[in-house]
Amino acid sequence: EINAPKIASGKVREIYDLEDSVLLVATDRISAFDVVLPGGIPGRGLILTQLSHFWFQQTKHIAPNHIIPNEAEILKDELKLSSDSQLRSMAVRKLKPLEIECVVRGYIAGSGWASYQADKTVCGIKLPEGLQLASKLPEPIFTPTTKASEGHDMPVTPEEAAEIVGQDVFDKVKAISLELYAFGSQLAAKAGIILADTKFEFGTDENGEIFLIDEVLTPDSSRYWDAAEYKVGSSPASFDKQIIRDYLESLSDWNKCPPGPELPPEIVA
Ligand code: C5P
Repeated sequence: EINAPKIASGKVREIYDLEDSVLLVATDRISAFDVVLPGGIPGRGLILTQLSHFWFQQTKHIAPNHIIPNEAEILKDELKLSSDSQLRSMAVRKLKPLEIECVVRGYIAGSGWASYQADKTVCGIKLPEGLQLASKLPEPIFTPTTKASEGHDMPVTPEEAAEIVGQDVFDKVKAISLELYAFGSQLAAKAGIILADTKFEFGTDENGEIFLIDEVLTPDSSRYWDAAEYKVGSSPASFDKQIIRDYLESLSDWNKCPPGPELPPEIVA
């Protein structure tokens, strides 16, 4: 048991109050859409945390992030963190999350593909004719969604997103997101992996400065495809939780599963 007050239990993470900061501890639970699946995958939370730490470190030159370096290490005795818990933990700043999720797509898949099939647009952005599932886009696009506290996140046009967060913040998070995607996809490509799309979240401090929060470029927030197997027009081999989404969609009643526990809005998880 961790020696700090638990603020909330997220779908995947447990959240503890450290007064000036927050401790996020990733469990082995797995969620997709709004469903937390029964059981978990041993070691998953540890790997997710370590991947986030890696990417937060790698992307510091693009955007500051919410990590407080070494905090979990410094506090490990006081918090009674086991070495396993420590490897699942991130001590982060308390920030105000923006009310949009910042999705970048370099390839067309998932809800982007569904939207394209309906009317050749994604988030109000007109795309060329003739794209197939998994086609590479002429250039990466920024396709934000709302952050729904209940129900599904909804895609929004750039104008709608700018109305939610303000034009200045919108312009900044769009530019940062596209740069993060470009950086992440280049690094992934060196490992033979395509970063098809990904989602970033941002928060602001009391001065309005923008920080990258939540998790970053993990297989829970991204689609990663095996470049060696990649073929336009078919579902690519995916190193992420697409398999879980496909499974849920194959169940006629998946959306009747009980939703995961709700996070308080002021907390980033
Ligand atoms: O489902 P969709 O195609 O809109 O997802 C786009 C990208 O955003 C995917 O990489 C997915 O992993 C990520 N995403 C996420 N959290 C959500 C919705 C999407 O991390 N709530």
